[in-house]
Amino acid sequence: MENKIDFQNLAQKYQTPYYVYDFDYITKQYQELKTAFKARKSLISYAIKANSNLSVVRHLAQQGSGADCVSIGEVKRALKVGIAKYKIIFSGVGKTDDEIKEALELDILMINVESEAELHRVELLAKELNKEARISIRVNPNVDPQTHPYISTGLHENKFGVDINTAKRMYIKAKNSDFLDPIGIHCHIGSQLTELSPIKEAVNIVANLVRNLKAALDIELKFFDVGGGLGIVYDDEKLIDTNEYAQTILEALFGLDITVVCEPGRFIVGNSGYFVTKVLYEKINSDKRFIIVDGAMNDLIRPSLYNAYHKIEVLNQNDNKSKCNLVGPVCESGDFFAKDIELPQTEHNDLVVIHSAGAYGFTMASNYNTRGRVAEIAIENNQDRIIRDRETFEDMIALEEKYL
Ligand code: LLP
Repeated sequence: MENKIDFQNLAQKYQTPYYVYDFDYITKQYQELKTAFKARKSLISYAIKANSNLSVVRHLAQQGSGADCVSIGEVKRALKVGIAKYKIIFSGVGKTDDEIKEALELDILMINVESEAELHRVELLAKELNKEARISIRVNPNVDPQTHPYISTGLHENKFGVDINTAKRMYIKAKNSDFLDPIGIHCHIGSQLTELSPIKEAVNIVANLVRNLKAALDIELKFFDVGGGLGIVYDDEKLIDTNEYAQTILEALFGLDITVVCEPGRFIVGNSGYFVTKVLYEKINSDKRFIIVDGAMNDLIRPSLYNAYHKIEVLNQNDNKSKCNLVGPVCESGDFFAKDIELPQTEHNDLVVIHSAGAYGFTMASNYNTRGRVAEIAIENNQDRIIRDRETFEDMIALEEKYL
């Protein structure tokens, strides 16, 4: 990955820490996937949870993207920036009554149902509103996605979706209800997938169910949602080829007249983004070297939470490298970006660039230690612009101060 972004200039202009996203890269990723599915009707519904900044989502809306949402808040973000309601999907194992009602009133494409109990609630609420709820059912195909256990979702031991037999029962119930319209089927087996074979296995299982529903129950689905999960480069991963990915899915759907839906998050934005922080101090405890930077686990939690690897680059000319831990100021030993990595000797204010930070970076940030969430910057056509202000102390206390 070569840098075409002038991180120094951005640091001078906007201070540190900051996230920066290359919007041209986001366009490229979206178009690559859309093109891979060109042989069919397809809908790319960007998984907003990966990076929900309104400017990012609007940028994708302008490409024609739909949205995969997991809260009504995400649905509203999508609508706010012009994603058409018929391209919005609402998923998640624990939707509240209010969320379901609002989704029905907003008339989005479909609610992706994850349990029999939820189907029952959706039916009741649709009845109350005298509407027919368009639904899909999330099937858990019991396939091992061969990824990190925290981001694996397609096994029966995970909380997501329902097994095939339950799904069948749910489709029958939906077909017989005046208030449910079963239009889709969904599966998502995990995130950061770098192997095609589990995806192939899963889509084949689900495609067979679609055929079975049609033949045995005369239920004809319109949308086949393969979820998200395409992996990106953090280190030296060999990625799934997008054309092969699309081809595998299209082959599984042979003979079916159905629109393919795909919900990529990380693939679209992950490698577009960098988290940039600056060196505050170096210190040595016994013989352990630490570089302390102004960014922390509250800004980018992936290393602390998943032990995730992110490529780290120090922007200085020093060749004198040695092992160290790169850590933030938060009062937790778990506050680190990398452990035991070789980095050059640093000076106060040297910049450190953390790569592959466009997905699940800012969206998982918090105000822990009363640290304001950082600024977000977009680069498009070589122009930079701020797309979210750095949070101030006043922003952080606004909802509490009035109760003093
Ligand atoms: N669709 C569903 C139903 C999902 O659960 C997810 C992600 C996606 C789509 C998008 O997956 P993607 O294309 O981004 O892999 N915080 C974790 C990742 C959690 C993923 C949750 N679900 C991380 O930082 O790695």
